[in-house]
Amino acid sequence: MIKHEPSYKFLVFGAGPRICIGKRMALTQMKLVASIIIQNYHIEPIEGHHHGYDLSMVLHMKNGFKVKMHRSKY
Ligand code: HEM
Repeated sequence: MIKHEPSYKFLVFGAGPRICIGKRMALTQMKLVASIIIQNYHIEPIEGHHHGYDLSMVLHMKNGFKVKMHRSKY
């Protein structure tokens, strides 16, 4: 399910009159790339790796998100 977050809460594309006009295009591209990766790879988070938010304008991940990726078998 796709969860909607108000622009003033999820600020990466800005909000108000200066909101990014490429937001929908960028989100469509991200969904496309994510769906291709999820379809083709099995993704397993590394156990014990601590991840979380690093507060900034673009919401970096604090320590990245380390995973093991294996190509899915068909
Ligand atoms: C991950 C991708 C993107 C991010 C994080 C992003 C982020 C932003 C942000 C934060 C602003 C507001 C800047 C401000 O308040 O001064 C902005 C404005 C803008 N963005 Fe994006 N953007 C992205 C992709 C795109 C794409 C793909 C396009 C065009 C196809 C685009 C076109 C624009 C334009 C024209 C503005 C100026 C809007 C205005 O001031 O009226 N952006 N973007």
